[in-house]
Amino acid sequence: MKHGPAAIEVNEVGPRDGLQIEPVFVPTDEKVRFVDALSACGFARIEVTSFTSPRAIPALADAQEVMARITRVPGVVYTALIPNVRGLERALEVGIDELNLVMSASETHNRANLRMTREQSLAQLLAVIERGAQAGKPSNVSLSTAFGCPFEGEVDAAQVLRLVQAVARAGAAGVTLCDTTGMAYPTQVARLCERVRQAHPELGLTLHTHNTRGMALANAAAAWQTGVTRYDAAVGGLGGCPYAPGASGNVNTEELVHMFESMGVATGVSLDRVLQVVSALPAVVGRTPVSPLLAAGPRERRHAAPAWLAEHFAPG
Ligand code: COA
Ligand code: ZN
Repeated sequence: MKHGPAAIEVNEVGPRDGLQIEPVFVPTDEKVRFVDALSACGFARIEVTSFTSPRAIPALADAQEVMARITRVPGVVYTALIPNVRGLERALEVGIDELNLVMSASETHNRANLRMTREQSLAQLLAVIERGAQAGKPSNVSLSTAFGCPFEGEVDAAQVLRLVQAVARAGAAGVTLCDTTGMAYPTQVARLCERVRQAHPELGLTLHTHNTRGMALANAAAAWQTGVTRYDAAVGGLGGCPYAPGASGNVNTEELVHMFESMGVATGVSLDRVLQVVSALPAVVGRTPVSPLLAAGPRERRHAAPAWLAEHFAPG
């Protein structure tokens, strides 16, 4: 297997990508506790919430209160999804370290999710990047449906590269290639990541995967082999876009951390602490997320040998 970077950064997106699709409204106190518990895990970034219109995403209507009340740990970058200048102004009022802007690589998903054409979105996005820069806040742009669209199918890599170029020119610090509905596969991920990195080595490149079709970890490993060092993930595999049919959870943070640490790649994240957060999730979201790793334990877990072995193999 080709070797990748010795260390990666993990961005926890559970409080945003995760809670935006949960059917129950998680009370504000509970959200704040959730983010505070995540702050102790060692993530590079935490996407705390989204400053979208409360009508579009009612589950995160309390974005300002959550952002204002979390306890910020030095070294952690607290980010949030910003759909427009209005959202940016709301975020600036309560403090934000980095902006996560969003638009889709495919026209139909962009219209369904953001109620705008891609050209309208791009124009808004450029305005948000500029206003963010005035306020001293770096912007990262997340490109949804970069590896396939649930409405249109295949998405042309040239479209993705065109948008990457536009946001790079506008001064974005990073881009995230998002596999919104788990359509990506490893060789495709490796190819697109390589092309984006070659065209724009100055941009921080993040991979955002969903495990809808069981390929999320394989896709992350493929990106790592091409040198990608930043990954979005959600504890317990929470997550999904309410405006993408069939969307389901992000790659499980605990599985991503466990995979990379097993490979000797430093993540900076404490797997023990993440597993504690995962085991507390039922109290947050009112259901038990699927987490095979929580059930099995890390690969270092050892079980006592069956008692009868000692007798059966006893000398004499
Ligand atoms: N924060 C709070 N309210 C906002 C807002 C924001 N960022 N942006 C718009 N609004 C309000 C407007 O003030 C207006 O309110 P009113 O009807 O009481 O006057 C209403 O929302 C509609 O505004 P409009 O500009 O027509 O927006 P829209 O309804 O076309 O929505 C978006 C556009 C982008 C704001 C909305 O579609 C959105 O937030 N989408 C996010 C989707 C998302 O997060 N998906 C999952 C993540 S990928
Ligand atoms: Zn997502």
